[in-house]
Amino acid sequence: MVEIKKRILTGHRPTGPRHLGHLVGTLTTWAALQNTHDCFFLIADLHVLTTDYQHPQQISGNTQEVLLDWLAAGIDPKRSTLVLQSAVPEHAQLALLLGMLVSEARLRRNPTYKDQVKQLNLQPSLGLLGYPVLQAADILLYKGQIVPVGEDQLPHIELAREIAHRFNQLYRPIFPEPEALLSTAPRLPGTDNRTMHSSYGNTILLRDTPEETTRKVMSMYTDPTRIHPTDPGHVEGNPLFIYLDLFDPDVEQVKDFKARYQAGTVGDVVVKQHLAAMLNRYLSPLREKRAELAKDKDALLDMLHDGSRRARSIASQTLGETMESMGLTLSVNKSVPAR
Ligand code: TRP
Repeated sequence: MVEIKKRILTGHRPTGPRHLGHLVGTLTTWAALQNTHDCFFLIADLHVLTTDYQHPQQISGNTQEVLLDWLAAGIDPKRSTLVLQSAVPEHAQLALLLGMLVSEARLRRNPTYKDQVKQLNLQPSLGLLGYPVLQAADILLYKGQIVPVGEDQLPHIELAREIAHRFNQLYRPIFPEPEALLSTAPRLPGTDNRTMHSSYGNTILLRDTPEETTRKVMSMYTDPTRIHPTDPGHVEGNPLFIYLDLFDPDVEQVKDFKARYQAGTVGDVVVKQHLAAMLNRYLSPLREKRAELAKDKDALLDMLHDGSRRARSIASQTLGETMESMGLTLSVNKSVPAR
């Protein structure tokens, strides 16, 4: 019997290089899901324009950075389909059609929209309001069943479900109602102990050199109550030990460091030096792979375009079914030649 794998669709906006928080919270999970699911990984460059349309010069560079980080972290273009959103015009086309099924009031109630409007110094655009409709199109275009995301994305997955449901009821049932797969990894603290986030300046990047990594680790926030290396220290909630638990495979060694830290017999500097060494060891194969891939930008982009081409053959089929269902029967698969 042939086992049919469930289809996953998920992605990132190419907002810059990926950091350690992305790696432990997301990319490691995605890489593992490739063993059990039919995975589509989307670089959502159109979505970047919903807020950053005034900085078009950053998008292509950031897309390449994200792609390098994904591949280095184990996303495998042979087993999974990598999609560049803007290379598959059906994303925008399906979003336009699905937009007919959502009220403007519903989109205004979307909590991420409200947050963005508060933060932005811009008049919110129609594009920003429609952000989750485009995201629904991303998923439904490939009839994605499972969407691994962080908690902040749940309102968008809920809206995608509503749209799929509405479409299926009104016309015919072609779309699965996608389910969110919530990441269970706790959020990684950044070097300042806030959540690691690109906009906080507290990240350790996958592309950082060992020297940069060490420098960042040496400046990390630790136990603020500890003034001297002989003071008894706190291990609980201390980012140094959160990191050691993740990146030092020697559990006994970590236990020993914790005991000595609590007893005041090891200083922060020594723990940090050890952590930097462990982190650099952990990241070293990933960095080697990244450096190797970065040598041939053409091959890298070919990979993305190959994936997008494969994706497009599915996308155009789904768009055809959608258009037909919505009464646009005269133009399905009969587009007027460009010239
Ligand atoms: N909105 C997602 C984010 O900011 C990115 C994204 C775009 C996405 N399209 C998607 C995620 C489809 C999952 C499925 O992280």
